[in-house]
Amino acid sequence: ASKKPKILVARAIFPEALAKLEESYEVRSNQEDRIFTPEELQKELSSIVGALVAGSERIDASALANAKDLKIVANISVGYNNFDVPAISAAGVMATNTPDVLTDTTADFGFALLMGTARRITESEHWIRAGHWDKWSIVNNPLGMDLHHSTVGIIGMGRIGQGIAKRALGFGMNVIYHNRSRLSEADEKACSARYVSKEELLRTADHVVLVLPYSAESHHTIGAKEIALMKPTATLINIARGGIVDDLALAQALKEKKIFAAGLDVFEGEPKVNPELLKLSNVVLAPHIASATEKTRRAMVDLAIDNLRAALDGKRPPSLINA
Ligand code: DGY
Repeated sequence: ASKKPKILVARAIFPEALAKLEESYEVRSNQEDRIFTPEELQKELSSIVGALVAGSERIDASALANAKDLKIVANISVGYNNFDVPAISAAGVMATNTPDVLTDTTADFGFALLMGTARRITESEHWIRAGHWDKWSIVNNPLGMDLHHSTVGIIGMGRIGQGIAKRALGFGMNVIYHNRSRLSEADEKACSARYVSKEELLRTADHVVLVLPYSAESHHTIGAKEIALMKPTATLINIARGGIVDDLALAQALKEKKIFAAGLDVFEGEPKVNPELLKLSNVVLAPHIASATEKTRRAMVDLAIDNLRAALDGKRPPSLINA
C-alpha cells in the first residue's frame, strides 16, 4: 500500500501539474472533468488530507461532514464564494485562493469586453456571417459608443478593479469608482481614480464595470432600480460573479434599450444563461473566461499546488484566507 498522503484534485488540471503531484501524493484525480454532486464531494473529502477545488465545489459544513483528515482546501480561483469560510475554519481546515497571478489577465479581459461591447464587435461579426454587409455606410453600419475620453465607473476597486483603472488611463478615460472602503490617497493617485457613491457612479459613468466579490451583501448589486439610474448610452460589464447582476432585469432593460449594451463573462446559475439574454443582440457573452489564458491558468494551478504543499508540509500557505 502507498505511504503517500492522499489528495483530491476535483477538476481536470494540466497533465504536467498532475504528474508532479503524483510524485509526492496518492492522487484521486478527475481528468474527465465531471462535476461531483454534493454527495460525491462529501464522500471524496472523507478520505484525503488535501483538496484542489474550484468554484464548482461548494465547501461547507455538509461537504466537510466526514472530512476527518482534511487539512486544506485550495481553490483554483481568486473568488471564493464557493467556500463557507467560517464552516471550513470550524472544521480546522485551511482555505486558500489564487490572488495576484490572474490580476492582469482578468483586467485585460475586462477591457476586451468593454471594447467588444461598446463597439459591437460580436454583433457585427454575426451580421457579416448572416450576409447583411452589402456596402460601407455612414449611418447604416453598426454604430457604437466611444471608450476614449469617456467616464468609466468601476464598482469593486480591488486588484482587478485597479488594473482596469490603469488600463483606462491609456485610453484617456476619466475613472470613478465605488468600493466598500475608500482606497488610500496613494492608490487613488496611482490610477487617477475618484471615489463616488454608487448612485453617482451609475448616473454619470458611460461604462460601468463590476469587479466586486460575490456575497450576500453584493447579491443583485445591479437590478432594475440601479439600471434605471444609468445613461441610455451606457454599457455594463460584469467580470465579477453571476448573482451580482439581476440577469432577468438586465435582459429586460437591454430589450427596452434602457442602456446601450452589456458584456457578461459570468451569469446567475451559469453555465446556464438566462434565455432572455440569449435573444438579444446588444449583449456580448463569454463563458467565464476572464482569467483563461494558457499562462495564467497554469499560474493559478501552480499557486493552488504551492498552497496545498505548504499546508501539508506544516507551513503557512502563501495565500491563506482563514489566517
Ligand atoms: C476567479 O478566479 O475567481 C475566476 O472567476 C475563476 O473562478
